[in-house]
Amino acid sequence: MSVIKLHDKDFEPYITKNKIAKYVQYLANLVAEDLGEKETPIFIGILNGSFMFAADFVREYPYDCHITFVKLASYNGINSSGKIKHLVGLNEDLEGKTVIILEDIIDTGNTLEEIYKIFKDKKVKKLKIATLFFKPDVFRKSLPIDYIGRSIDDKFIVGYGLDYDGLGRNLADIYQLKEN
Ligand code: IMP
Ligand code: MG
Repeated sequence: MSVIKLHDKDFEPYITKNKIAKYVQYLANLVAEDLGEKETPIFIGILNGSFMFAADFVREYPYDCHITFVKLASYNGINSSGKIKHLVGLNEDLEGKTVIILEDIIDTGNTLEEIYKIFKDKKVKKLKIATLFFKPDVFRKSLPIDYIGRSIDDKFIVGYGLDYDGLGRNLADIYQLKEN
């Protein structure tokens, strides 16, 4: 692993794919222990960032489960403040279900807040949040995050699904923005 360039910025190696695999394994086991074998959860990956994490997570999950993906999009038209979000792609009826959200990273918590708002009226049995990465220094909400893979410094990262302006999602390792 060496320094890489995406668009105009340099990124240095930060977390190897082997380490990432450990965090994913840890999270899958944590959720499995919590829910047990009898409860069959529906995992919901938040696109685009969580596609790789979700794919690896469910392969580590030892019991029966469902997996689906949604995208958070801003409303167009009269509500296009860019702040009000809605879900794209949710076809499943979640009433009475155990729903576990799979997020790539939680930063300010704005996205998390939207997720809580959206899922509040879905009459789910249980709503839990699992995030691979968490930036505690920037998190501004008092909302629960149930499962955290790893807390990291407040520095921009790419790789393993995370992008810098569209690039870097395909990298197997995580890289951190280099400060010059
Ligand atoms: P939040 O709403 O501020 O918590 O940010 C959540 C979203 O911002 C994540 O789902 C990512 O898509 C993106 N994001 C936050 N921090 C990073 C980062 O360090 N690298 C890449 N994307 C990030
Ligand atoms: Mg995301």
